Amino acid sequence: MESLHINATDRAGKYAGLIPQLKALLEGESDLIANMANTAAALHQTFGFHWIGFYLVKGNELVLGPFQGPVACTRIPFGKGVCGTAWKEAKTQLVPDVELFPGHIACSALSRSEIVVPLFMEGEVIAVLDIDSSLPDDFSETDRKQLEEVAAILSRVSVQST
Ligand code: SME
Repeated sequence: MESLHINATDRAGKYAGLIPQLKALLEGESDLIANMANTAAALHQTFGFHWIGFYLVKGNELVLGPFQGPVACTRIPFGKGVCGTAWKEAKTQLVPDVELFPGHIACSALSRSEIVVPLFMEGEVIAVLDIDSSLPDDFSETDRKQLEEVAAILSRVSVQST
């Protein structure tokens, strides 16, 4: 695939355009890091969110992986921040106002709302997809559902790098 073609202007329409193209892009590659890199780029190109990226489970912390956006914190302990909570609870965290989330880790002062989706392999959380928006309350159940689908595609086609 050379480029993405998204015609819709609304959020749900953009996901509907993006997901089949992302699936086609990822299905030809099994390397997890390569697939995370293209997923972050595709989401960034489609939605233009402030920060989109992955943190990978390494021992007892999350370590920064492929991302698009400003430089970010590199390590997040288990259970800390929105990302560490998504890992601990093995559950998507939808945060309408980051200032109201206890223990939120502010990598960027511009971040207003956030969604973090865990990636599972063989029933274990192996990474999280983190998206930060500079707008308050920017994520809905549509984002949760569609981003969980993105995470599922990524996990299904990828093999963890050694
Ligand atoms: N806000 C996240 C930290 C990662 S940055 O947003 C890129 C958190 O609370 O886990």
